[in-house]
Amino acid sequence: MKRILVIGAQGMLGKDLLPILRSSLKETEVIGWDLEEIDIRHESDTLSKIGNLRPHIVINIAAYTDVDGCEKNRDEAFRVNAEGTKHVAEGAKEIGAKVVYLSTDYIFDGKKKEPYIETDLPCPLNVYGWSKLKGEEYLQERVEDHLIIRTQWLYGRHGKNFVSSVLRQAREKPVLSIVDDQTGSPTYTVDLSGAIAALLRYDSRGIFHAANDGVCTWYAFGQFILKSSRMEKVSVVPISSEALSRPAARPSQSVLDTRKLRQETGVRLRHWSEAVQEYLAAG
Ligand SMILES: NC(=O)c1ccc[n+]([C@@H]2O[C@H](COP(=O)([O-])OP(=O)(O)OC[C@H]3O[C@@H](n4cnc5c(N)ncnc54)[C@H](OP(=O)(O)O)[C@@H]3O)[C@@H](O)[C@H]2O)c1
Repeated sequence: MKRILVIGAQGMLGKDLLPILRSSLKETEVIGWDLEEIDIRHESDTLSKIGNLRPHIVINIAAYTDVDGCEKNRDEAFRVNAEGTKHVAEGAKEIGAKVVYLSTDYIFDGKKKEPYIETDLPCPLNVYGWSKLKGEEYLQERVEDHLIIRTQWLYGRHGKNFVSSVLRQAREKPVLSIVDDQTGSPTYTVDLSGAIAALLRYDSRGIFHAANDGVCTWYAFGQFILKSSRMEKVSVVPISSEALSRPAARPSQSVLDTRKLRQETGVRLRHWSEAVQEYLAAG
């Protein structure tokens, strides 16, 4: 029986990923750990815990994901996202396990006019992006059998996200201001989990981009959420990223080209609008 260890299992993606892996991978034991069981910042602890469990695959989705928080706490961002990933890679290497690592569109600077492919040159604009990129590099240097899945704009039932934040704010105020100069693909954690399971079934290696189909700005995404929730009375004002003035810069265009995922597994994630409607319908 194969054993998969998911680190970061209590997070937004983890809570959807575990049941989906359990139902879609046969003859596989899926174990979920989070901060209570393992702290990937600690090298010897991480190595010994992975060594004792002896999983065949380690999926590292544990991360410091507060993008603006990373800007203010640079050292902590690198401790978790870069050094933590290094420790996981070293632990996996000792027992010959495959490592799967979730990375981000924020490793790109957004200057490309078309969607980013896996071999495009990274050039992060913020600390979060740099720390996640360093995690990619540590993994590539240490474990030959690695799978790096870059995704973006995640939302899911088990974590704070853009959809829940728009709905909460719409209940509190009549006008919302949302940035209209960043383009990407909102991605549902349930759909992403299906793509991860498919890549595991194919025993894929290397870098893959995975996101829901279609593109929009955060402004258009916000409008769609309100319309689909019958809250059109709340008006949305488009603003620039500069006007919002958040600590971390974000790429203006970070759409991920997902053709490699499709060619490898046959999986094409549905249009983001369809996924959002299903998420909203589930309440
Ligand atoms: N969210 C997005 O839009 C997005 C976009 C692109 C890529 N990603 C990547 O996708 C993955 C999953 O994201 P997510 O949104 O599900 O993140 P999340 O909800 O923040 O979940 C991450 C989990 O990791 C745990 N964790 C943090 N530090 C840890 C440590 N030192 N040791 C062990 N566990 C630790 C967190 O615990 P605490 O909550 O207690 O800190 C949390 O349960 C991450 O690798 C992220 O970088 C996310």
